[in-house]
Amino acid sequence: MKIAFFDTKPYDKPSFDKYGKENGIEFKYFETKLSEDTAELAAGYDGVCVFVNDTVSAKVIDILCDHGVKYIALRCAGFNNVDIKHAFGRIHVLRVPAYSPYAVAEHAIALLLTSIRRIHKAYIRTRDFNFSLNGMTGFDLYGKTVGVIGTGRIGRVFIDICRGFGMRVLAYDKFPARDLDNGDTVRYVSLDELFEKSDIISLHCPLNDETYHIISEEAIEKCKKGVVIINTSRGALVDAEALLSGIKLRKVGAACLDVYEEESELFFEDNSGHILEDDTLARLISMPNVIVTSHQAFLTEEALSNIAETTVSNLVSIVKNGQCENELCYRCGSAEDCKSGKCF
Ligand code: NAI
Repeated sequence: MKIAFFDTKPYDKPSFDKYGKENGIEFKYFETKLSEDTAELAAGYDGVCVFVNDTVSAKVIDILCDHGVKYIALRCAGFNNVDIKHAFGRIHVLRVPAYSPYAVAEHAIALLLTSIRRIHKAYIRTRDFNFSLNGMTGFDLYGKTVGVIGTGRIGRVFIDICRGFGMRVLAYDKFPARDLDNGDTVRYVSLDELFEKSDIISLHCPLNDETYHIISEEAIEKCKKGVVIINTSRGALVDAEALLSGIKLRKVGAACLDVYEEESELFFEDNSGHILEDDTLARLISMPNVIVTSHQAFLTEEALSNIAETTVSNLVSIVKNGQCENELCYRCGSAEDCKSGKCF
C-alpha cells in the first residue's frame, strides 16, 4: 500500500517508517500541506495521511476521489478540518482517537505552572544573571477552583492532576460522565456557573458549531477578575480578539495557548525571519501574562509512537477487513465515530 504523507516534519518519519515497514506500507513524505493546490500530488497513491492543519475540504476530497485515492488517514484526534459529510460514501476517513491524553494534559499543566509561577520570566532573567524577584509573585494552586470544559480522555487526566494539587474542579460537558461528579471536589455545573466561579479555566472539548468561541466576550465578562485561561484543544474555541481585550482590561489574569484560531499558516513553521501579519497574535505574544506554544501539546515520544502505530493499524484494518473501528462516519450521527463500519 502506498500512502502520500502531507505536512511532514522530521519528527514524524522514524515512527511511521518503523510501523510502515513492519506492515507493508510505503509512505511518500511531502513537506507541503494538503490543499486544493497540492491534492494532485496524491495521484497514484492508495491513501493520504494528514494532520491538523491540512485542508480536507469538499474540493480536496473530489480531487482525491478523481485520482482513485481511497483512504484519508488522519494522524490526529480532531477532525474539524475534514468535510466528513462530503466524504461520506466516497472515501474512508480514519483517525487516531487517543494517543496520549497524558501528553496534552501534562502540557496544559506545564503552561499553567510556567505562567502563574513566572518560570518563563525567571528563565530569561537568570540567564542574564538577574536574580531579582521583583514582579515574580505567583499564587498557590492548592485550594483554587479550576473549570474544565470537556471531560473526555484529556479533560479527565487534567482533572486528576488538578486534584493532586488540591484544587476544586467544576466541570462542564455536553455528555457528563456519570462516575466523575463526587458532589464535593469534582462537580458538574452549568457553563455560566463554571465561568463565574473558576479561578482557572481549561478547554478540553472538540471544536464544533456549539463550541466555536465558547470563550467569547460575554463569557469573559462572566468570569472572575484575574481568571487564567488555558487552551490546548482548538484555537477557535477562544475568540482571540475578545481574549486580547480581556487581557487589556485586566479581566483575564493570564492566558496559556497551545492553539490559536488562525494558526494554520503559522504554527509548526519557522517564521522568525518574517514580519508577522497577524496583529492579534503579535499583541498576545507581546503580553507578559500570555504564553504561546505552537500546537506542541501532543509532542511526546510516547504520543508519536502511538500515533504512527494506530494510523498504520487503521489502514491495515480497512484494507484487510473493509472496516475499521476508528473510521469517522457521517451517517452514524454528526460525525461521531462509526462503530459498525458497515454504513460506508
Ligand atoms: P474526547 O472525545 O475524549 O473528549 C471530548 C469531550 O468533549 C467529550 O467528553 C465530549 O462529550 C465533550 N464535548 C463534546 N461536545 C461538547 C460541547 N458542545 N460542550 C462541552 N463538551 C463537549 O477528546 P480528547 O481526546 O479528550 O481531546 C479533546 C480535544 O483536545 C480534541 O477535540 C482536540 O481538539 C484536542 N487535542 C489537542 C491536541 C494538541 O496537541 N494541542 C492533541 C490532541 C487533542
